[in-house]
Amino acid sequence: MHVLVVYDTVYGSTGQIAGWIAERLNGFADVAAIVSRFSENPNLEDYDAVIIGSPIYRNDRILESIKNFVTENKEALAKKKVGIFVVALDTGGAYYFGRLTGGLEYLKEFAGLFVNPPVYGKVLGGEQIPTRLSAEDRESLLNFYRRVMGSYEIPYRYNMDKPKVWEYATRFYRHANR
Ligand SMILES: Cc1cc2nc3c(=O)[nH]c(=O)nc-3n(C[C@H](O)[C@H](O)[C@H](O)COP(=O)(O)O)c2cc1C
Repeated sequence: MHVLVVYDTVYGSTGQIAGWIAERLNGFADVAAIVSRFSENPNLEDYDAVIIGSPIYRNDRILESIKNFVTENKEALAKKKVGIFVVALDTGGAYYFGRLTGGLEYLKEFAGLFVNPPVYGKVLGGEQIPTRLSAEDRESLLNFYRRVMGSYEIPYRYNMDKPKVWEYATRFYRHANR
């Protein structure tokens, strides 16, 4: 099975996770997995299966680039086994003033973009490095932490978990082979 892991990223963590997914998949004797950033314009015809990943970024959404990638390749993707993943800090989700936020909610819009539903999807933990944020992102996160947490600083977070990412890849492989 030829697998393409395609992603976009703002600060790099989604690319690292895409690499871990491909690393695990290449451990299966019958898989050749390749990682590509969406901007490299990978040719989907070369692959039997495609895993697509995006960070959760502004307004609790996936990146526009990934949304466009899926929309533009709708027909080609309908003929493949597709996996999706999003990278976020709020992997568990919560109920907040009358609505469900975070966790699986982050997958809903993404999963809804496909003609044939993806075979497997998951929310994976990411990373937040306050010192690396753009001024605009720092401002928006400061607002968030002030409003929601009552805190005046952006915390460093490392929620990346390679065993969990490998488990995601293993499960995708099993579901894609059904
Ligand atoms: C401006 C901004 C908004 C974010 N919004 C959310 C969010 O709504 N929910 C969440 O769980 N994580 C949020 N995050 C955290 C990112 O999803 C996390 O840092 C992720 O690892 C970033 O991926 P990247 O390194 O591939 O760009 C946000 C991060 C930034 C910078």
